[in-house]
Amino acid sequence: MDEMDRVTVIAPVNIAVIKYWGKRDEKLILPINDSVSVTLDTSIMCAKTSVCFGPEFTENEIWLNGVKTSFSNPRLVNVLDKIKNIAATQRSVDNAVLSWKVRVCSENNFPTAAGLASSAAGYACLVTALAKLYKIKTDVSVLARIGSGSACRSVFGGFVRWHAGVNADGSDSIATQIADSTHWPEMKALILVVSDIKKHTSSTVGMMNSVNTSDLLKYRAKYTVPRRTEEISEAILKKDFAKFAELTMKDSNQFHAVCLDTYPPCVYMTDVSHKIVEIIHAYNDMCGELKVAYTFDAGPNACLYLLDKEVPTLLKLIKYLFPTSNLDFVIGLGDVDGGDCKFLNS
Ligand code: DP6
Repeated sequence: MDEMDRVTVIAPVNIAVIKYWGKRDEKLILPINDSVSVTLDTSIMCAKTSVCFGPEFTENEIWLNGVKTSFSNPRLVNVLDKIKNIAATQRSVDNAVLSWKVRVCSENNFPTAAGLASSAAGYACLVTALAKLYKIKTDVSVLARIGSGSACRSVFGGFVRWHAGVNADGSDSIATQIADSTHWPEMKALILVVSDIKKHTSSTVGMMNSVNTSDLLKYRAKYTVPRRTEEISEAILKKDFAKFAELTMKDSNQFHAVCLDTYPPCVYMTDVSHKIVEIIHAYNDMCGELKVAYTFDAGPNACLYLLDKEVPTLLKLIKYLFPTSNLDFVIGLGDVDGGDCKFLNS
């Protein structure tokens, strides 16, 4: 096979500090509010995807973590169709090539679907690789968004904002970088894996239920998030850790309050997650200032943000309070310097 017919990409995980929760358009994946995230170092958590195509393939095929999976997922089909349409419009490949089937192999180096943003890194990888394979020129964050909303933020490193946009066709619902990965090198992330069991309610279903039933979500999208998005962007640019930490924790708490306000409620945090919240507040109180921030996505695992000088003490504390012998904790420390998606064979 021609080397140009195969592309491999690695993409980083991003963890939101101002959460995306709720869509105004399910098909185009348009959110009801802006969100902000931090991209983690690919050496700690990333997805790696290889794509190829050829006249010899008889069907589209996808392998996820070594297991052959159906290519019938509507989001996957949508993404591929969209990319082929752009390729046809831009005449970036021959018509014959457009009829070839594709083969996708994707793997994560972290637990899938346990609230660790695996779909974000996966789709960011997939669209970046396919865009290169079909030689198209386009905003890959828009393509990633069609796969999974939060994926649009994983195509950039550093600190990233996903603008909800106002256009019905989603053309202005894009991610932009607030600051690149070199801006705040002292910032670190610590992932505490409370459980790697697949969550009961997926983000997609959970947020749809929240949009349909939660009054708090309406308030959040209209009043809280617009203010917080501006404030956290400013805190990032000024490297104001205390403000960054306060907004991050408050937003995580409000997001989980929305989940409880959803009917039926989605419960993602466990007793251990709540214990971590308690410990971080006690630690910050003891220090007399905000030194560590927690945030939880749609799962029980914690992402802690802290400055590098705090890492040794906090690691000691966590290891003391949760010895790995009786709790399934894996501790990974990530430099927040993900950098943009990287190609491995170009
Ligand atoms: C809690 O991006 O996984 O992680 O767009 O339906 O694929 P879909 O949802 P997804 O939701 C992520 C929700 C979150 C918050 C966030 O990452 O902003």
